[in-house]
Amino acid sequence: MENQLIKEKIKRLKEERNAIILSHFYTRREVQEVADFVGDSLSLCKAAVNSKADVIVFAGVHFMAESASILSPEKLVFLPVPDAGCPMADMVTVKALREEKEKHPDAAVVCYVNSSAAVKAESDICCTSANAVNVVNSIENREVIFVPDKNLGAFVSLHTDKKIHLWPGFCHVHDNISEEDIRYLKNLHPDAEFLAHPECRPEVLCLADHILSTTGIVKQVEKSGSREFIIGTEKELFEKLKRKYPDKKFYPPSEKARCYNMKKITLESILNSLENMEYEVNVPEHVRVKAKKALDRMIEISG
Ligand code: 13P
Ligand code: SF4
Repeated sequence: MENQLIKEKIKRLKEERNAIILSHFYTRREVQEVADFVGDSLSLCKAAVNSKADVIVFAGVHFMAESASILSPEKLVFLPVPDAGCPMADMVTVKALREEKEKHPDAAVVCYVNSSAAVKAESDICCTSANAVNVVNSIENREVIFVPDKNLGAFVSLHTDKKIHLWPGFCHVHDNISEEDIRYLKNLHPDAEFLAHPECRPEVLCLADHILSTTGIVKQVEKSGSREFIIGTEKELFEKLKRKYPDKKFYPPSEKARCYNMKKITLESILNSLENMEYEVNVPEHVRVKAKKALDRMIEISG
């Protein structure tokens, strides 16, 4: 079926079902074009809570749809492709986290939203890339177990006097952006501002002018006086900025910076989701209630 026809059908079904489509910045262009809201993990959580819709179709990966369902249990939340996951979220299990908690009984657990509902339920508070430093500094404990992203955790540890116990998780997309890639680009484009996502390695973040969430990167491009930018995150954001600001120059960190899980979401899968009400994301109530506490605490301090 032609894209335009699929888009028209999606629009009609959205109205019929009182549904909205929430999308992350890393999904395909045509997917973002049918979304009611496109944003970073924090703004997507807030959009899910604030929406008056009965149905949310989540164009993103599993933990994002799960967070929407935890926060808004009265809404039906669908993930169009059930195996669109975040490999980093699978790098921490409840069992392993409990063992770590036993080793550090005085530590609070700060859990990056890129994690399962069960891990969130074991945590004191969640964070996203947009608020990780503020979240860690908002808690009373002097010690923090930070799961699962070691790179985001290391970045936070530079902005707090708390002792941070890092977890060995990482995002393959950001961790594969190398210092050499960035030094090469900076040599070629010495006037370019380098905007990096905090999931990048510490040696890459050392080279950044600004370390920001995906929404933070978009806002920095909007307000900056610079004409050139190296976009240190998944390549879709570079493509989007290039289209939006044709008079500015953008450089991707590497051709390999692709999140193949985000690309699993297609227009066809969104149409199927709305037509057949698939695939519903559900969290067992006893887990949901605890996970919601950790997410609510984060949203409270994020304003
Ligand atoms: P943001 O919250 O900054 O959009 O990051 C989410 C993510 O998965 C980055 O890889
Ligand atoms: Fe997970 Fe990395 Fe994809 Fe973000 S870019 S969803 S952290 S695999």
